[in-house]
Amino acid sequence: MKRKLEGQIAIVTGASSGIGAGCSKELAKAGATVVVNYPIAQTREMAEKVVEEIVADGGRAISYQCDVSKEEDVKRMFADTIGQFGTVDILVNNAGLQKDAPFTEMTLDQWNFVLGVNLTGQFLCAREAIKEFLRRIRREVSCAAGKIICMSSVHEVIPWAGHANYAASKGGVMLMMKTIAQEFAPKMIRINSIAPGAIATPINHDAWDTQSHLQELLKLIPQKRVGQVEDIGKAAVWLASDDSDYVNGTTLFVDGGMTLYPGFEDNG
Ligand code: BGC
Repeated sequence: MKRKLEGQIAIVTGASSGIGAGCSKELAKAGATVVVNYPIAQTREMAEKVVEEIVADGGRAISYQCDVSKEEDVKRMFADTIGQFGTVDILVNNAGLQKDAPFTEMTLDQWNFVLGVNLTGQFLCAREAIKEFLRRIRREVSCAAGKIICMSSVHEVIPWAGHANYAASKGGVMLMMKTIAQEFAPKMIRINSIAPGAIATPINHDAWDTQSHLQELLKLIPQKRVGQVEDIGKAAVWLASDDSDYVNGTTLFVDGGMTLYPGFEDNG
C-alpha cells in the first residue's frame, strides 16, 4: 500500500529533540523526506541522531542548521531544501521554547527571545513555505498545494501565570494560523495547528521528573497519563495527509483532555 506521505518533502523546525524529533520520525515513517532542522551548532549531534534513526528505519532525512528567528537563515533553509529536493510540500512549524519568569521580573530579552522563536519564527517559515507552494501550484503527491502545521499549545487558550511570553506567543500563533488559513485556502493550501498538552519532553522535564511532580501534573489531565511525542507525531501525519483534506484553519488539541476544565471533574 502506498504510504500517506510518499514522495513529499517536509521541513520540521526545532527537530533535534522533543516533539519536533517525534514528528520527524512519524512523517518519515509515512514516506516523507524530512529536513530535520536544529537551531545552533550545540544541537547538531542530536539532530544527526534523529536522522540516523530515520535512515536506520528505512526513511530519508537530512539535518539542517537554521535559527528560525532570523530571516536570512530561514530563507537559506528553504532555498537549500528546494535546491536539493526540488520543492517543499509540508512545513511543521514546531520550533519553540520557554523562558519563564514572574511577570514583573520578566526581562525584555526573555520576552523578545520567546516571541522571536515561537511567533516570528513561525511567521518567517510559513511565509517561505507559502511562497514555494504558490510558485509550483499543486503536484500529484497530494490534493493540496501544500500543508503547514503550526505547533501551538493548550496555552493558546489556557492562561499560564509565570509564562506570559510563552502564552502570548501561542495565542499569537493561533490567530496567525487562522488568518493565513483563510487567506490561502482558495489556493489549496491547508494550514492547521496542533495544541499539545503536557507531552514528556525536555521542555517540561521538571513537571514529571519526580513522583510528586507527576501526581500534581496528572491532576490537570483527565486521561491520567502524560503524552508522548508519538501522540503528536501521529496527529501531524494526519494533518499533513490527504485524509484531512477538508480540515483547514483549525486547532487539533492533543492533550488527554487538559482543556476540559479538569478542576470541575467532581465539583462546581
Ligand atoms: C508547555 C509545557 C507544558 C504544557 C502543558 C506546553 O505548551 O511547553 O511546558 O507542560 O504546555 O501545560
